[in-house]
Amino acid sequence: MYPIRRNRRLRTNEAIRSLVRETTISPNDFLVPLFVVEGKGVKEEIVSMPNYYRYSLDLLEREVKELWKLGLKSVLLFVKVSDKLKDNTGKEALNPKGLMQRAIKTVKNACPDMLVMTDVALDPYSIYGHDGIIEKGIILNDETADVLAEMSLSHAKAGANFVAPSDMMDGRILTIREALEDEGYFDTGIMSYSAKYASAFYGPFRDALDSAPVDLKNIPKDKKTYQMDYANRFEAIRETEMDIDEGADIVMVKPGLCYLDIVREIKNEVDVPVAVYQVSGEYAMLKAAAEKGWLEHDAVMMEQITAIKRAGADIIASYFAKDVVKLLNS
Ligand code: PBG
Repeated sequence: MYPIRRNRRLRTNEAIRSLVRETTISPNDFLVPLFVVEGKGVKEEIVSMPNYYRYSLDLLEREVKELWKLGLKSVLLFVKVSDKLKDNTGKEALNPKGLMQRAIKTVKNACPDMLVMTDVALDPYSIYGHDGIIEKGIILNDETADVLAEMSLSHAKAGANFVAPSDMMDGRILTIREALEDEGYFDTGIMSYSAKYASAFYGPFRDALDSAPVDLKNIPKDKKTYQMDYANRFEAIRETEMDIDEGADIVMVKPGLCYLDIVREIKNEVDVPVAVYQVSGEYAMLKAAAEKGWLEHDAVMMEQITAIKRAGADIIASYFAKDVVKLLNS
């Protein structure tokens, strides 16, 4: 067709480029992960996640108000639990006065319209750092799902809008959905971590919550018996379709960047919103390279976020959310 068709005409200047741009980013795209700790006046930086913090409840309140002002209207809560409260079955996770339950109330008090999602998994509460109850060298599936259902109910009672099970036990979405329905929590949503891979990119997150699997004689130190093998693609679709059948309102692919082929495939396959979690290791990589002056932080950040959305993400859980929105506003 050359020279009748010259593709560069649509790239001549920023005005035409923005006119034909297919993917744009706004505060509405983001879900902001927040780490919560006990104490007062605590804002501690996570060593492997520069400029990302754990907050005590009083400072959490300040932080969510700031997010709200920036137009960030959804948060995903994680708690760092003291070792004293950890056991094999996650008993503390069901404590109505537990840190998560108080965190939910704190956010709702500070910003009543903020959408509160909660992490539902045993690992922050487990002495072993695993997402399931362990017995005789085995991660128990159904017993774990029952605890996750109770945990979800406890979060719903405290005021959570959505629960987000991140454990990858089989059948847990149905178990949670039934528990919520039985107790009349018809409006509590479930965002399922449906295609969650056994990834080495979760390292900094496990530092943040002190939740890494510990050395055990009869259990491997990784999560490969429940999280997915990163070599697999069809399995992600199967997992996701099953979670939707069991009652998930939103499904998720995790991590982000290395899994954008999976995101696109799932987006083409399903008709519920698809979330993508750009995980801690992805955040840490860019921060480290930028600190060394090897990558231009803001430019690479925007390229990554746009790529995730272009791949099919309706929702992006990202530690960059605040940085991105501040950049958009600048
Ligand atoms: C655990 C959980 C993990 C993350 C979210 N929930 C880590 C894991 O599976 O070990 C990772 C998030 C991140 O790396 O940013 N239930």
